[in-house]
Amino acid sequence: MDVDSSSLHALRSQLYNPVDTPIAHEELDLFRKKEFGDADVAELFHENTKITLNDARFARRVHKFNNDETSWTVLEHFRPDYENREPVELPDPAESLSTDLSTALSQRESVRVFEGGELSRQQLSTLLWYSSGTPRTQVLSGEADHPVERRPYPSGGGLYPVELYFALTSAGEGLSEGLYYYVPGEHELRRLRRPASAGDFLEELTGLLDPHDETAIDFEGANFVPMLTAAFWRSKAKYGPRGYRFVLQESGHLLQNLLLVAEALGMGGVPLGAYREDEINEFLGVDGVNEALVYAGVFGTTGGNA
Ligand SMILES: Cc1cc2nc3c(=O)[nH]c(=O)nc-3n(C[C@H](O)[C@H](O)[C@H](O)COP(=O)(O)O)c2cc1C
Repeated sequence: MDVDSSSLHALRSQLYNPVDTPIAHEELDLFRKKEFGDADVAELFHENTKITLNDARFARRVHKFNNDETSWTVLEHFRPDYENREPVELPDPAESLSTDLSTALSQRESVRVFEGGELSRQQLSTLLWYSSGTPRTQVLSGEADHPVERRPYPSGGGLYPVELYFALTSAGEGLSEGLYYYVPGEHELRRLRRPASAGDFLEELTGLLDPHDETAIDFEGANFVPMLTAAFWRSKAKYGPRGYRFVLQESGHLLQNLLLVAEALGMGGVPLGAYREDEINEFLGVDGVNEALVYAGVFGTTGGNA
């Protein structure tokens, strides 16, 4: 982005502050050096994944994908479903959530200190079902031959490239600590790793964060650490590089569901952007290229609603 301090100045005054409080050029210069000093890969990406008025590439790509049987076959058969891993059944979720949406929305805030309570199987089942369970399939218009899943959060093209892994760091009622994968269509878990490695993982995760920071997170009191990965290619196969945007947007939808349902269950959580990428990918057993971590959170019991 080619920004100099006078154009930033002009932008600011047009948008926010036509007359008052001029900002010194030196201050803007400092900001510009900090924020825009390096070659900006984010801007390159943004510019190169726009759909422009005269650009038929995007529509052509989507059309081609929809009409190519192999796209659907590949999507159907290449899910990281971990079928060969130990299955862990979940009880039926609670029939409904007793907290209404307006309460959950208005009370939701990032929680970083937890009560330290255990997560029951029933709570976990309810949390996962209302956030990410798959109650039925639907047919997208124009794609009658390929009914897609319907989940409680939206997904570009119904391709669901975002996968939900989580570490249970303090679990009760026959659940053990460890790393799990949620199979939404079956409302079932696959156990991927045993407890010892969940402890190792927390060390990796906390290693980056300053315990004296006021936003330090109480990992010891937490019990549920969701880690959302994206199988980028599932979205990019249809949408090209623009699919990368869709994946990040979708992960936000899913994490917000988890946060709101957690709120309704007397839990709370904080989204996590500061984590060690490569170490967590390795912990999850994903290659970091075709499938990689895109978002995470730390959740625990707060003794709120429920
Ligand atoms: C993408 C994203 C990444 C975040 N990463 C962190 C993080 O690494 N550590 C943290 O303590 N909070 C993190 N947060 C939480 C924000 O600090 C918090 O949402 C914000 O201060 C607003 O407060 P509220 O969530 O209580 O409304 C993140 C939030 C978002 C949306």
